[in-house]
Amino acid sequence: MTGRNIGRLLLMSCSITLMMHMYWNAIYRAPSPQRQLIDHSIPIVPFDSIRHIRSVDDRTAENVTRMHHYAGNTNTTGVSECLDPRRLAGKIYVNSNISLAPTYEQIRQLNVIPLQFGHRKTSSCHGEQDVAFIIPLRGRDAQFRLLLHHIYPILRRQRIAFSIYAVTQAGSGLFNRAKLFNIGIEKSLEDRNFDCFIFHDTDLLLEDGRCLYRCHGKHPLHLSKYVDVLSYKTMNYTLECPPPGFNNTLQLFGGVSAMTKQQLRDVNGFSNKYWGWGGEDDDVNLRLWRKGYNVTHVSGEHCSYTMVKHGRESGNPTNSDRLKLLYDSTNRMKYDGLNSLRYRTISVERNPLYVNITVSIGDGSKDARYVNKFLRNACNETLGG
Ligand code: UDP
Ligand code: BGC
Ligand code: MN
Repeated sequence: MTGRNIGRLLLMSCSITLMMHMYWNAIYRAPSPQRQLIDHSIPIVPFDSIRHIRSVDDRTAENVTRMHHYAGNTNTTGVSECLDPRRLAGKIYVNSNISLAPTYEQIRQLNVIPLQFGHRKTSSCHGEQDVAFIIPLRGRDAQFRLLLHHIYPILRRQRIAFSIYAVTQAGSGLFNRAKLFNIGIEKSLEDRNFDCFIFHDTDLLLEDGRCLYRCHGKHPLHLSKYVDVLSYKTMNYTLECPPPGFNNTLQLFGGVSAMTKQQLRDVNGFSNKYWGWGGEDDDVNLRLWRKGYNVTHVSGEHCSYTMVKHGRESGNPTNSDRLKLLYDSTNRMKYDGLNSLRYRTISVERNPLYVNITVSIGDGSKDARYVNKFLRNACNETLGG
């Protein structure tokens, strides 16, 4: 081999190594903190650009309200186009570092929020569903900003007509996630006749744009089936004291779920009686079972989430009454739920990105008395009273 050939060979192998290095970086490396603010939800394998997202907004800017966002094309969109994985972005980069959460103003600027009021419902990708996101909240502001920042581009890609409602519990009493959900349902329905409700913890960030934020006409959906902190494994458990007739294992229904208005009406929404952590998601799952629904996981293989790391708040200790309440859940369904909801609205703020409803919901002492009076002997053998 001549010296020239060796030189050529060396040059070629250097170029190949360089190209491979660039390719590897483009595909696998997380964006720098600077870039995370701008395009974190661009697919990891880039074929799309922020310009595409903006053009979707430009076309629809006149047709949306300030707080109700329609992210679709004004023409009828073919289902195949809607489900084109390249449009939906596939695997997306997830920033779960709360110290990198942008401000509300930064999120607003990045998401080109249209300023006009007045809504015209146009055909969208998903059966023209109007979707209300209900997010239970107290504290966790940085988590909530991360969620908004993460979810807006996803929803635009999915062409979903949506509004986001944060229902914030005032005061320092025991947290009541399910009651906040009920309030979100009631209050959002005062604004629009939503078809579909997504109940979304503030700390869960979707990892793949192909998991659609929509409802299934027939059955409720559990979207956060696979979560990083659960090692992406499904979670099933047996109830210690199941309600009469329920002999199955329960599948996790917490995190992120989707139900239609009809499904929610059939089960009278959620129970208002779960104060503190645990049980409220199992309760609604049992109500759904009682009404003949089957929780499903449509496009489940894409529905994986990263949970933002957090501790347990002092206002949200494990509810030691939860097994008793679960034993009684299907019995209580007809009078404990949307039809018995009592709370005081402190404020409703209509921000460009979301509506924040702050509420005073009581302290749970009445419900503790209910358990004491009617469920004193339920499930004692395992709980020890
Ligand atoms: N949450 C909140 N503040 C609290 C407790 C709970 O905002 O003090 C909300 C928040 O949306 C959170 C959800 O309730 O994601 C569920 O609580 P948590 O994350 O503690 O429960 P986990 O599912 O992690 O067991
Ligand atoms: C609780 C649920 C919770 C699940 C998974 C169950 O024991 O009742 O509320 O979602 O565990 O953590
Ligand atoms: Mn959590």
